[in-house]
Amino acid sequence: MRPFLSCLFFSLTFALYFHGAYGAAVSFINETCTRIASNDPNVNFTFCVTTLQVAMKNNSLGSLEGLGLATMNLMKTNVSGIIFQIKNLLNQQGLEPYHRNCLLDCHDLYLDSVDALDVASQSFGSKRYFDANIQVSAVMDASTTCEDGFSEKEGEVSPLTSMNNVMFQLCAIALSITNMFE
Ligand SMILES: *[C@@H]1O[C@H](CO)[C@@H](O)[C@H](O)[C@H]1NC(C)=O
Ligand SMILES: *[C@@H]1O[C@H](CO)[C@@H](O)[C@H](O)[C@H]1NC(C)=O
Ligand SMILES: *[C@@H]1O[C@H](CO)[C@@H](O)[C@H](O)[C@H]1NC(C)=O
Ligand SMILES: *[C@@H]1O[C@H](CO)[C@@H](O)[C@H](O)[C@H]1NC(C)=O
Repeated sequence: MRPFLSCLFFSLTFALYFHGAYGAAVSFINETCTRIASNDPNVNFTFCVTTLQVAMKNNSLGSLEGLGLATMNLMKTNVSGIIFQIKNLLNQQGLEPYHRNCLLDCHDLYLDSVDALDVASQSFGSKRYFDANIQVSAVMDASTTCEDGFSEKEGEVSPLTSMNNVMFQLCAIALSITNMFE
């Protein structure tokens, strides 16, 4: 596990509530994504804003905590979609063995990520932010380990690059929200 963006957000107002304050929400999302993107070149600002806007719609608590939970719910849906795609790829005929093994590894990594995300949102919901951070970091590692498997053999092309990148960025966003509470 790598320490991720910790200590970045100490200056942020923790008790930031959104209760109907659309303008505040927009600038909060903007500010959060500006910080995340400037501290992690892997994170695309536009993607971050889009993601948090979607998560915001399912922010039943109307709080930063609710936004964190909604982001993790979004990630669960995304991971399920990735697993579905991997299964489809595995069903193709005549897969080269190395390629097939990479896909199988990715399948297992993302299956573990479903559990990790369940634990992450439970931990986050009960204010065990350090535990939540560990679980989300594990999912982030899954996305890079999956991608690395393909790149370890010359000539191998990962069919999952864009999905792994999306997952990596979603993890970065969830981690930075989590770190705001630590
Ligand atoms: C978000 O921030 C950028 C620069 O920090 C600014 O140019 C832009 O207008 C802001 N957008 C919104 C919707 O507040
Ligand atoms: C950032 O994400 C947006 C939408 O998700 C995409 O259109 C754009 O090409 C991305 N930019 C980079 C530099 O990847
Ligand atoms: C919205 O949030 C609720 C409660 O956190 C969750 O059970 C549900 O799966 C979420 N819906 C989506 C579409 O993420
Ligand atoms: C994951 O989320 C991204 C961005 O919200 C979306 O473009 C992509 O289709 C999703 N992938 C899957 C497999 O659900």
